[in-house]
Amino acid sequence: MTFLYKANVTRGQEWASLFADRAPDLPFRLWPDIGDPADVRYLAAWMPPENIGTTFRNLELVFSIGAGVDQFDVAQIPLHVPLIRMLEPGIAEGMVEYVTMAVLALHRDLLPFIAQQREQTWREIRCTQAARRRVGVMGLGLLGQAVLERLKHFGFPLVGWNRSPRTIESVSCYAGRQALPDFLAQTDILVCLLPLTDETRGILNSSLFEALPRGAQLVNVGRGGHLIEADFLDALERGVLSAAILDVAEQEPLPAGHPFWSHRRILLTPHIASMTTPETAVEFVLDTIGRHRRGETLPGLVDRQRGY
Ligand code: NDP
Ligand code: OXD
Repeated sequence: MTFLYKANVTRGQEWASLFADRAPDLPFRLWPDIGDPADVRYLAAWMPPENIGTTFRNLELVFSIGAGVDQFDVAQIPLHVPLIRMLEPGIAEGMVEYVTMAVLALHRDLLPFIAQQREQTWREIRCTQAARRRVGVMGLGLLGQAVLERLKHFGFPLVGWNRSPRTIESVSCYAGRQALPDFLAQTDILVCLLPLTDETRGILNSSLFEALPRGAQLVNVGRGGHLIEADFLDALERGVLSAAILDVAEQEPLPAGHPFWSHRRILLTPHIASMTTPETAVEFVLDTIGRHRRGETLPGLVDRQRGY
């Protein structure tokens, strides 16, 4: 019976020593050293191997190394094998830090100041009070709610949009497609924290940008597939949007020569908004394996129909 890990190798080595310490009876293997595929009972992957179900025929649990699972083709995972997304506190902490950094950077005009510095231009840009800068979060799940909780401290008027209704203190919440325009109309800085599904793919498009107040700003920490890149570049060009901070792209790594690399109104990071922390991730994974063995409910269980 083995546990197979397929993701970042350096962090995988940390997982290996944590497993050796905390679960010495469960052999740990680091991809591509898979051993006998029939021994693999547990698989944790960022980009999953192909043909999971047929290659690893004794699988009992599949873990996503990240909070998102859109990189998995659930059709390839046998129905009796639960797919679990990573629910460990390190992801939420990292995301709260990143979105706070991004919202404050946009709020305090960091992108134009970086451009001015490059041009050796000393020019004031008048700041807007936090009370006049409305921040809207799409996706009020674990991460969206954690982010809003922190943003409350800065005095921004906060709005949120979600599939099912939510009640969050000091946040005006909207639910469902029909409420999207009302939410957008009150959003000066839009944060996308949705999962990527058939329903949300391409949601950051021209008609959404047009529904925002003119010159609104975007933070995309969801997935590159949420953003229609041509619509977005056009919105920046026409001043519909004024700046954006992107942590994700349709194609990762972003290809050489892509317009995002050098756009003065875009700040780009390489999908690092939050990263799974080996220490707490291994704790979560081992706890979930224990629960599965005892037949208990599994936190982070992905709903195959919804896709998250
Ligand atoms: P959750 O599953 O906890 O939350 C997802 C939320 O999105 C739910 O509240 C859900 O609503 C809502 N939602 C889903 N579909 C729709 C829809 N069609 N319209 C409106 N709302 C919808 O996920 P997390 O908060 O943990 O993570 C969100 C995403 O963040 C991940 O899927 C991943 O893509 C991204 N992420 C990015 C990282 C990065 O480093 N850039 C790191 C970690 C995550 P309901 O519950 O009503 O269905
Ligand atoms: C995740 C991610 O889903 O890193 O956790 O994007």
